[in-house]
Amino acid sequence: MPNITFILPDENQLTVAASDGESLMQAAVDNGIEEITADCGGCCSCATCHCYIDDAWKDKLEPADEMETALLDSAIENKQANSRLSCQIFLTSDLDGLVVKIPESDW
Ligand code: FES
Repeated sequence: MPNITFILPDENQLTVAASDGESLMQAAVDNGIEEITADCGGCCSCATCHCYIDDAWKDKLEPADEMETALLDSAIENKQANSRLSCQIFLTSDLDGLVVKIPESDW
């Protein structure tokens, strides 16, 4: 059961216990993080689940696939090297301690 720390836009932090196999997006939504609206429900078509992965963790994740990369490129104005779509990251115990920054909602 990985613990995930979300850094909210106001810099407050929220650490939650996520379930193995669930997406990072689902963990955010289930814990009331309103900036992650996840309009498409995790189908990689809306980009409203954008987040920034802490630098210490970004190389420990599976890299974004072509579809995620294309959506990040086309939909995210403030895209950074550590930008990811949280619906495309699936949590395992290897990611215990993951830190993720939530941007202000662009929507
Ligand atoms: S929830 Fe729509 S792209 Fe992630």
